Amino acid sequence: MQNDTTGFTLWFTGLSGAGKSTIAQIIGPEIERRGILVDHLDGDVVRTHLSKGLGFSREDRDANILRIGFVSKLLTRHGAAVIVAAISPYAETRELVREMVDDVGRFVEVYVATSLEECARRDVKGLYAKAFAGEIKEFTGVSDPYEAPDHAEIVVETEGRSPEDSARFVVDELERLGIIPPVLEEAVA
Ligand code: ADX
Repeated sequence: MQNDTTGFTLWFTGLSGAGKSTIAQIIGPEIERRGILVDHLDGDVVRTHLSKGLGFSREDRDANILRIGFVSKLLTRHGAAVIVAAISPYAETRELVREMVDDVGRFVEVYVATSLEECARRDVKGLYAKAFAGEIKEFTGVSDPYEAPDHAEIVVETEGRSPEDSARFVVDELERLGIIPPVLEEAVA
């Protein structure tokens, strides 16, 4: 099958618990339906192999992000849609990855703009309670920085919206920006 879509990396950034991975997982099949190969690189997962042993100092986070960026570039070069979900708190490091990927395809930054208050209220993994109690050091948004993007291609607000609605919004934006084609009606087999 001919794949004439330019490869791209969809880079979800935002606080822990913002909804990055959840939205990324819903979007994957939506992109696959358009005949585009999809790969996922999720911070939590990458940290179990490619970035195993890395912690949360600036140096370690940057190493993690640059590794994810390196793999994203390889896959993007081959025309894939790479869906990354990682806090990636430092703007300068995200810019480095943007430059790497833009060399071979398109880098699309998606800011999942869920507030700290909302992430802490949801506290899906119970980490915010520990961070506020001082049991986890260097926790993003609590005791470590998060530099929100100021020129993300897509900004998605999740508060008062279901994950499906947030994913729909991102897919609509990708279509509007001409990064993915509208879905074709089901072909008759
Ligand atoms: S990043 O900063 O290097 O981009 P990444 O997305 O890979 O982070 O991993 C973040 C996940 O690690 C969080 O969702 C959370 O589950 C876990 N985590 C453990 N300790 C921390 C911490 N100190 N700060 C942020 N996340 C942490």
